[in-house]
Amino acid sequence: MRVLTTVAELQALADAEHAAGRRVALVPTMGALHAGHLSLVEVARARVDRVWVSTFVNPTQFDDPADLARYPRTPERDLRACREAGVDLVFAPSAAELYPDAADTWVEVGALARPLCGRTRPGHFRGVATVVAKLLLAARPRLAVFGEKDFQQLAVIRRMVRDLLLDVEIVGAPIVREPDGLALSSRNQNLCPESRAQAVVLCRALDRAEAEHRAGETDAGRLLAGVRQEIAKASRAEIDYAELRDPVALEPSPPRLRGPALLALAVFFRCGAAPDAPRVRLIDNRVLRPRRERARREG
Ligand code: PAJ
Repeated sequence: MRVLTTVAELQALADAEHAAGRRVALVPTMGALHAGHLSLVEVARARVDRVWVSTFVNPTQFDDPADLARYPRTPERDLRACREAGVDLVFAPSAAELYPDAADTWVEVGALARPLCGRTRPGHFRGVATVVAKLLLAARPRLAVFGEKDFQQLAVIRRMVRDLLLDVEIVGAPIVREPDGLALSSRNQNLCPESRAQAVVLCRALDRAEAEHRAGETDAGRLLAGVRQEIAKASRAEIDYAELRDPVALEPSPPRLRGPALLALAVFFRCGAAPDAPRVRLIDNRVLRPRRERARREG
């Protein structure tokens, strides 16, 4: 497995792979790799000849400096995990490599980047779109894989690729969860045991909404009230947002759901009993589908 840290080396290797007719997939990550990341590697491997993983903690997508400082970094473990997963190349550049000379050019996606995490984390998607554009331009992969765990991020990246005419296929991969339902996330490492135990309410809230929706409930207000009730069972949880939106345009769902609806959650978990204890923000989501569409998808 090769490990590269410069854009020039990566571009040279991309040229060589293209010349040899080999298809490359890129899996962009911020390191602190877990089984969710490695599932993206598997999705990639099934479709191409070479799988490249980037592990860059992108400072421009953090709206909160404390969150950036606390973000877990496990470079040695990441390399081991990639090697074991049969990754062909890890790209681990420095911030100066990706943002040379105080780079001041940004990629800003419009309407899709404004609600949900875009509203509560100003500038976040500008940082994400910019770094993903740079990574795609540096690696020039045939395809790139992203998790549906970050549903809005996937939508923003698809839109950016379309709008900037980038020649790459964007592939979405399903959410990988712990046995108790908590979605895997690098930030889970920052949860204290108490908040880790309580964080399962995220998935329980999604399960409850899905069950009620399957049983025929289509009133958005009542579904969201159930979600809030479920999350309120966790004393350390504080909702950032809990919303139902159209899964394509990300516009608010109508009061009575008709088509598929994205249920998107972002919740802070306080680590410690004190009101000013550090908080870890977790996100999760599920698409609620009408019965006729479920039947079609499940074949
Ligand atoms: P990071 O949070 O490290 O996630 C990297 C990729 O792994 C993303 O596509 C994310 O959706 C996916 N992922 C994370 N947890 C997952 C899970 N439990 N199941 C399936 N996929 C999961 O997302 C980022 O980094 C950054 O914003 C990045 C795109 C790399 C740009 O800096």
